[in-house]
Amino acid sequence: MSVSASAPVIPVTRTSSPRPHPAEDALGFGKYFADHMLVVDYTEGQGWHDARIVPYGTLALDPAASVLHYGQAMFEGLKAYRLMDGRISLFRPDRNAHRMATGAGRLSIPAIDQSLFVQGIAQLVATDADWVPSAPGTALYIRPTIIATEPFLGVRASRTYTFYVITGPVGAYYAGGLKPVRIWVERERVRAVRGGIGAAKAAANYVASLQVAEQARERGCDQVLWLDAIQHEYVEEVGTMNLCLVIDGTLVTPPLGGSILPGITRDTVLTIARDWEMPVEERLVSMTEVRDAHAKGTLQEVFGVGTAAVVSVVGTLASEDGDIVINGGEPGPVAQKLYDAITRLQYGLDPDPRGWRM
Ligand code: COI
Repeated sequence: MSVSASAPVIPVTRTSSPRPHPAEDALGFGKYFADHMLVVDYTEGQGWHDARIVPYGTLALDPAASVLHYGQAMFEGLKAYRLMDGRISLFRPDRNAHRMATGAGRLSIPAIDQSLFVQGIAQLVATDADWVPSAPGTALYIRPTIIATEPFLGVRASRTYTFYVITGPVGAYYAGGLKPVRIWVERERVRAVRGGIGAAKAAANYVASLQVAEQARERGCDQVLWLDAIQHEYVEEVGTMNLCLVIDGTLVTPPLGGSILPGITRDTVLTIARDWEMPVEERLVSMTEVRDAHAKGTLQEVFGVGTAAVVSVVGTLASEDGDIVINGGEPGPVAQKLYDAITRLQYGLDPDPRGWRM
């Protein structure tokens, strides 16, 4: 990872009270935070200004700040990896910058400058380099966020915003390999609707999922399979991840129709599978097709793909119509091969012909 020599250097105020580092064998996800954060303000007429790296700490918000009332908030997620030689690498941070800038429009949030996003994160990670863990499967998770800060209760877009980036060490999502999960097929409630905000990484998309995920857990399931909001028939996402299926040797994923997040891991998976000359289709998949393929024996694999877990294997799709057990409830070869290929790229163990590591 390098901070470009031509990029303006962001002023750093170092913490005077560094925190103790957690043990690397029990990091979990999202529990620990590094010492510093990047903060940039936006003011209408002035644009994004006053980028600074400061000690991690609370934000002061007016109780009327519009994010607290009308939910103008979005975030990103990416990781910094410790390579074998000790250097640190980001993976495709330009894609996160692009997604945040393009998703912002739908939420009436001003687009963050993409080079500021990437260079700011590179400098933040360099500042907290000692927080990037090195145990296998661990990484420094990076959470860029934008919130609307104007104290105003009229319903319109805020005229001021804060972009901030926090980071923290995280463990391998599945310590024991790709443990297949049990997924509840939700037939009634939806995550996002075409024409809505599902294609942006809006905080609101996640709140829409919480109640359903909670009830899925009460039914003994780990997460939820989200169906389309109109016919409640076409598969869209799984948990917080994009969905992939292997049907009769073809890797199939639903198309980006407006309700699905354009996942960076999704794009990585599709690109790698095409490199392998595996047949790949981005197309609608109905639950009827899933059930028919299962009955015929051609539903070979189902898995989620995302930054946090990379690949999450679906062992069972559970619903009122009964269970669909995929590949005997075991991880399939495509999920495993993709997981290995992506993590080897991220940790610098394989060549990087596309320049995805930064
Ligand atoms: C991911 O799968 O990477 C996510 O988006 C999960 C994150 C919201 C914790």
